[in-house]
Amino acid sequence: MKNKIIAIYPGTFDPVTNGHIDIIDRASQLFDEVIVTVALNINKTPLFSSDERKFLLKEVTKKYKNVKIDSFSGLLVDYAKKNKASVIVRGLRAVSDFEYEFQMSLTNRKLAPKVTTIFLMPNEKYTYLNSSLVRELSKFNGDISGFVPAIVRKKLKEKRKKD
Ligand code: COA
Repeated sequence: MKNKIIAIYPGTFDPVTNGHIDIIDRASQLFDEVIVTVALNINKTPLFSSDERKFLLKEVTKKYKNVKIDSFSGLLVDYAKKNKASVIVRGLRAVSDFEYEFQMSLTNRKLAPKVTTIFLMPNEKYTYLNSSLVRELSKFNGDISGFVPAIVRKKLKEKRKKD
């Protein structure tokens, strides 16, 4: 029997947006199992804790039976090996993503030649979207209904009230 193909989709997910969900949807159709994993040791100061980010990811991916939610710290390739993943999924939104993604993908390949990075393009309506934009819009009460699911909007509103 053919080995199942496990893919990991890493990111900060602060918070998960419709653009991320678009990538998760595509990946779930391509691979036997997709592990969406929240990066913990990043040079960012997230608005949401890792548990909150995982909770939101779990909520918005409930319908995908082959998608699991996790988190990791340390090197991504070590996490991939530990989970027997042969694929890293990354989204490519615009040319501006390319240089950073190219560098990361080649570095990861050098470290772990058997792990292949695959780039998926989200629907064009999400090409300009990122989590910072969503956080900023929410902070100033802007309309984010087209960018994130209702549960994410709710959690962002709760954060705003705490400020
Ligand atoms: N739709 C909407 N937004 C998207 C998106 C999509 N499809 N894909 C990416 N983005 C946004 C994210 O929301 C994020 O926005 P923000 O910066 O405004 O918060 C931004 O693009 C960056 O994306 P993300 O996928 O979260 O990447 P990252 O740069 O934060 O993290 C890791 C990249 C975690 C994969 C990388 O740092 C890593 O592997 N770290 C582990 C340590 C390691 O192995 N280092 C060596 C790597 S060579």
